[in-house]
Amino acid sequence: MLSKTMEKGLNEQMVAETYSAYLYWSMAAHLHDQDYPGMAHWMECQAKEELSHAVKIYGYMMERGSKARMSAIDEPPSEWDSPLHVMDSVLDHERKVTAMINALMDKAIDEKDHASNQFLAWFVTEQVEEESTASAILSRMKKMGDYVQGLIMLDDELGSRKPLYDLLPKSE
Ligand code: FEO
Repeated sequence: MLSKTMEKGLNEQMVAETYSAYLYWSMAAHLHDQDYPGMAHWMECQAKEELSHAVKIYGYMMERGSKARMSAIDEPPSEWDSPLHVMDSVLDHERKVTAMINALMDKAIDEKDHASNQFLAWFVTEQVEEESTASAILSRMKKMGDYVQGLIMLDDELGSRKPLYDLLPKSE
């Protein structure tokens, strides 16, 4: 059984992961609107991954005999100045998520909750990948500066990302 503080922390993390999905979905909508379909697709894939993170926590809480509570999700921003601004915001957001995961891991260590420690280790590793990926894309965008063709090539490249799963049914 989880302690009350661990239960509260995991629940907050589940909500934060759901917000992440909402944020990236909003970025996808913005990028579609700005005619960057590849980047929008990449962001939709990212949103699906975030939802899977929320579900992972939900499943763990159930396994540990806790009841997850679906609290309100904040409204994310809907406008960004440029694709670079979008990716800069992704990296900034992922750094905040990393800090939340680390704080949860600290709690698990303090409480000698070995099961939660093991569970959260997956998220610690995942955050390294999430920050590294966002940072690499942002770095390329910064090097491109105002080189529009470079941005179009990057858009094509990001459009080839394989989604974790499909949300919409495939048309016949
Ligand atoms: Fe689930 Fe991108 O943090």
